[in-house]
Amino acid sequence: MSTTRPATRPGNPRFSSGPCAKPPGYSLDLLSDAPLGRSHRAAPGKERLRRAIDETAELLNLPEGYRLGIVPASDTGAYEMAMWSLLGARPSETLAWESFGKGWVTDAVKQLKLSDNTVREAEYGEIVDLAAVDWDKDVCFTWNGTTSGVRVPSGDVIPADRKGLTICDATSAAFAQDLPWDKLDVATFSWQKVMGGEAAHGMIVLGPRAVERLESYSPPWPLPKIFRLTKGGKLIEGIFRGETINTPSMLCVEDWLQALDWGRSVGGLAGLMARADRNAALVQDFVDARDWIANLASDPATRSNTSVCLQFTDPAVAGDGGFAKAVAQRLDAEGVAHDIGGYRDAPPGLRIWCGATVEATDIEALLPWIEWAYATERAAAG
Ligand SMILES: Cc1ncc(COP(=O)(O)O)c(C=O)c1O
Repeated sequence: MSTTRPATRPGNPRFSSGPCAKPPGYSLDLLSDAPLGRSHRAAPGKERLRRAIDETAELLNLPEGYRLGIVPASDTGAYEMAMWSLLGARPSETLAWESFGKGWVTDAVKQLKLSDNTVREAEYGEIVDLAAVDWDKDVCFTWNGTTSGVRVPSGDVIPADRKGLTICDATSAAFAQDLPWDKLDVATFSWQKVMGGEAAHGMIVLGPRAVERLESYSPPWPLPKIFRLTKGGKLIEGIFRGETINTPSMLCVEDWLQALDWGRSVGGLAGLMARADRNAALVQDFVDARDWIANLASDPATRSNTSVCLQFTDPAVAGDGGFAKAVAQRLDAEGVAHDIGGYRDAPPGLRIWCGATVEATDIEALLPWIEWAYATERAAAG
């Protein structure tokens, strides 16, 4: 292993897991048509909000009868809006295998205080036994655990004739992984992830069974205005046409329209998924060829193609948070990789975003630098 600096640097050192890298070729000039200083309810704003919804639904191949809305507070807002609006009607299960999923468990147990809720949790790197889940209950889960790099391998385990609702946080999966829409009654995501958009706005997908629940059930707890999807027992259909609950940023909306344009230019959903797959495969090949680093996700079928989490396995440094941090800081200081330290609650290691906005050539250029930083830190440790 060499401590000589590699010759090539990534063209773009941004490998953060959110906000994620902007699409290649991005420039603020692309936003010059944003209707700034105008009401979002005036014609230009309405037209853009409607397009943001319609073009997203098209890019994701949402089935007929599924609704998509723009809601406040990024993915968190979208997901909590779903939990607060839908849960409590029947028994539930909350599943978690990393920190965001654990956050939804806390919501269910400590905030909503659901009386008949089963919690299933797995350690970082593992996933819960999905075959043991009772899908006749409402089930809350995160498709891709961003902080552990563990994802649901397939929707096959979710029965088509389930009685409960599936409420899925898909923020680091949407546009990178093949989401089985017929198995998802609710899915949420933020613009800031795979497409490299801005945070602050969330998107919520509602299948017909979720709408049926919304129109037939009123939760016993108070619902703030920004969570309200119904009025007088009826779905507020305007939300799904771009009549947002409160004022959106038209700059963020313009940015999202640009991201969608870019998504179409790389081959739409199939092209976006292929880009993430290729990036993640490059990282995995690198890891497989070395005995000092490994994917945190133990089962290959669960390995994320977006938030790829790695741990150092050499016994001399395995689990050493200070060492992993020093490696990440060295890469940051060198200007070859920003924000790739593992998440604060996750086991020490690196997390490399491999979503579609990251160029494969940049991943290829980064990998020798990881080896360099590792070797340099090991040598410094003596
Ligand atoms: C799985 C998951 N859920 C929720 C969030 C929170 O997203 P936001 O900050 O966009 O609300 C994140 C952010 O990284 C995430 O990865």
